[in-house]
This record gives sequence, C-alpha cells and structure tokens, in this order.
Amino acid sequence: MAKHRVSFVCQNCGASHPQWSGRCDSCTEWNTLVEENSSVGLAAGPGRPLKKGRVVALEPLDGETAEAPRIRTTIAEFDRVTGGGFVNGSALLVGGDPGIGKSTLLMQASAALASNGHKVAYVSGEEAIAQVRLRAQRLGCASSPVSLVAETNVENIITTLEAHAPPALVVIDSIQTLWTDVVESAPGTVSQVRASAQAMIRFAKQTGSTVVLVGHVTKEGQIAGPRVVEHMVDAVLYFEGEGGHHFRILRGIKNRFGPTDEIGVFEMSDTGLREVANPSELFLGERHKAAPGAAVFAGMEGRRPVLVEIQALVAQSSLGTPRRAVVGWDSSRLAMILAVLEAHCGVRLGSHDVYLNVAGGFRISEPAADLAVAAALISSLANKPLPDNSVFFGEVSLSGHLRPVSQAAGRLKEAGKLGFEQATYAKGSEVVKQPGLRLNTIITLAELVVDLISGSDQALRQPDDTGKE
Ligand code: TYD
Ligand code: MG
Repeated sequence: MAKHRVSFVCQNCGASHPQWSGRCDSCTEWNTLVEENSSVGLAAGPGRPLKKGRVVALEPLDGETAEAPRIRTTIAEFDRVTGGGFVNGSALLVGGDPGIGKSTLLMQASAALASNGHKVAYVSGEEAIAQVRLRAQRLGCASSPVSLVAETNVENIITTLEAHAPPALVVIDSIQTLWTDVVESAPGTVSQVRASAQAMIRFAKQTGSTVVLVGHVTKEGQIAGPRVVEHMVDAVLYFEGEGGHHFRILRGIKNRFGPTDEIGVFEMSDTGLREVANPSELFLGERHKAAPGAAVFAGMEGRRPVLVEIQALVAQSSLGTPRRAVVGWDSSRLAMILAVLEAHCGVRLGSHDVYLNVAGGFRISEPAADLAVAAALISSLANKPLPDNSVFFGEVSLSGHLRPVSQAAGRLKEAGKLGFEQATYAKGSEVVKQPGLRLNTIITLAELVVDLISGSDQALRQPDDTGKE
C-alpha cells in the first residue's frame, strides 16, 4: 500500500518543499519548483517498529581485494578518463550541453566494444532507430553488432534486457527521457530521473553490466535537474567544448574506480570524433612565429600538459574608459595583472584598450598562466615579438613577485618534446632539465619587463621603479 503525498520539488537542486513558492529556499533559484507526486510506503513512519532485518557480515578493513574487472573501449582517450575502461557493474553519468557530441561519443564507444565481441545495448529515448542508424552510418560503424532499443519506459527496458544474456554495456541516451511507473510525475522531473536512474543502477549491480547514463547540462553547467544522479553513480564525466570550435574535452569529475584529474581530448570531424593524442599540437597548430603579443603558455589540464598560445592586443584607446575584453581566461585575473604591471613594473596601460584571447577556443583556469599573459601584454605594448620558441608559466602575486607552480617538470618536458628552446618561469619551481631547453628563472615580473623591452621603446618604462628588486 502506498499513500500519495504531493510535494514541490526544485528542478535545480532536488530539494523538496511542502508548499509551492516562487523561489527555492535551498538553492535560491527562481521558478524551479514543480509539483510532484511521491509515493510513501505506509510501513515507514514514526511510532511503527522497524521490520526485523537479517544479519550482515562485518568485514575487516584490511583484506585482499581483487582489481575490479574492466572492459576497454579501445578508444584510448575515453579509457584514460574512466581509469582504464568500464568497470563491470558500475554506473556512469556522461553530462554535457545538447549537441556537444555525447551520443556520437557513446555510439563510437558502443561500436568499438561490440566489434571486439562484447554485447552492447544502446537505448535511445531521444532519437528514433532510423536516426541512430543514420548516425552510425555517418560514423562508419553501422556494421557493428550493437543492439538498438528505442524505448523510454524503465520497466520495459529492464524486462527487455533481462530477456537476453546481460550486455557488457548499456547506454541510456538520455536519462531525462526515461520514466518509471513507480513515480507519477512527468519524465525529466527530478523524481522521475532519480527513480529511473536508481532502477538502472540496480540493474547494473545485479547483472554486472556497465550502465552509462547520458544527461543534458543546463546553461549554468549543472546536469539539468538530475544533479541528484551525480551522487548515485560511480563516475561522472563531462563532455565539453567551446561553441564554434571542433575540439571536445571529456573530463572526469568523480570516479570511484580511477583518477579524476585525467582528460580525454577529441576533435569533432565529418565522420565523428577523432582522438587527439597530443593536445598541444591542436592548440598551437596555426601559430605565426614572431608576431607581437603572442606568448605560449605551458599549461596543465589535470595531469596532462597542454601548450596553448595566449594572444594579446594592446592599443591606444579612444574611449574615456578603456576597453578590456577577454576570451578564454578570467577577466578579473587580467585586471589584476594589469594592476601589477602598472604598480610594480612601471608599465602604464591605463589609456590602452586591452584584448586577450586564448587560441583555439581553449579555456584556461590555472593561475599559472599569469606570466604568459603578462609576457603577451608587454610584447604587444612594445610591439616586439617574444623570443622565438619560448614558453612561459608562473603565478603573479600582488607584490609583483612570481610564485612557483605545480608540475613544472611536466610542463618543461612537454615544451622540450615539442621543440621549444627556452622556458621562462618562477624561480623555485621543481624542474628537471630538458635537453635543448634553456631554462630562464625569474623572481619578479619587473625582471620580465626589463628582459623583454630592453633595447626597445624605453618610453614604456617609468624612470624610477623598473629595476630588478
Ligand atoms: P550529438 O552526438 O547528437 O550530440 P548530443 O548527443 O551531445 O546532443 O552530436 C551532435 C552534433 O555533432 C551535431 O551538431 C552534428 C555534429 N556531428 C559532426 O560534426 N560529425 C559527426 O560525425 C556527427 C555524428 C555529428
Ligand atoms: Mg544526443
């Protein structure tokens, strides 16, 4: 017996409220409460004694545990993010904006697994069988023995899957389209998504199949409504990319069976996603040597070194308040670098427009890019190209000093591998010498300014405070 209780569930954070209101108390979003019916078992509740359970074995913490069995997709960039392949009986959530390529990625992974003799079921709740087939033809994998199911009812899906030998991989595309008879609210609501995900995760645990749930993300970067799913699954991967650019990054946000600082890099082509084994080549591809205002930043994405070009344009402003425009970096961080250049290095940019762009549509979140940004700005202001084949990294503090950054050795190694000849970075970073790479350590940003503009436009510098500290 179940009694029905009406509650208002926030579609953003999943909080449940007894009454409707315009704003969710929990996450302060407006207009997100939706009426949902939830069934409450009569057996639970205050005053009722708990049913007697069975005794569960107590296990010691220290004991032999076998490595979880995994299946590799053979798409190396995908396997890298999952930590070496899908763990049997685990559930993953793959989130991303609509149209970013989630269905493409999972179809390619499904086809690769099926071609290697694994049983794969692809459940499409969004597209008809014909559309899925068309995509498979475009990807050149239509001949792979993947079983397609076009269904959105969880009970039907599980009954269908149970009627055959359990597949190694079940892809649910997408979790927002599923609905179960157990819950009465509409598909896509938090209660439906939660109950459907729970049923699919239970199926994974019981049969040993890996279940991949696809989820759409809202503009704000949250998996729409079903953030609740994030803590239920074993791994959460995000598939992201910049509008207008072809590269895509698969990023592990949570992983109970592997690392979360790995990324997989892909490029969307006419015939599906192509693996990019060396991301730096992608972001440095069209570099014009000897252009003023361009600096190469030796960055890190998780554990992977990524070299990207930072482009700056500093031009005399005709406006009362000069313009600052930033693409791919934090604009408040740019304001900070400009202030430090002005206060400690005597570089006056108050009457200049400043434009900053990270090439290739890449987004940098590391403070280690400070030094490369400063180098690009100075180079553009002085209209003098930076030394050929040099990379920069280091965090700038408000005092104008440089702070060492983590994983310096990895950054230098990548720069050396790609044929760079000089690296400028903060003194004190842990480094390993690279053959062919000249190491240039600096302590303050003022040193960089002196190095870069010595011999050129002296008017850039104020007479007093440009010297080395
Ligand atoms: P899709 O996988 O359907 O995205 P999602 O499932 O995340 O919503 O990918 C859709 C986009 O990818 C679409 O705009 C077309 C593009 N695309 C290609 O550029 N090449 C291809 O080979 C395929 C299959 C799609
Ligand atoms: Mg899709």
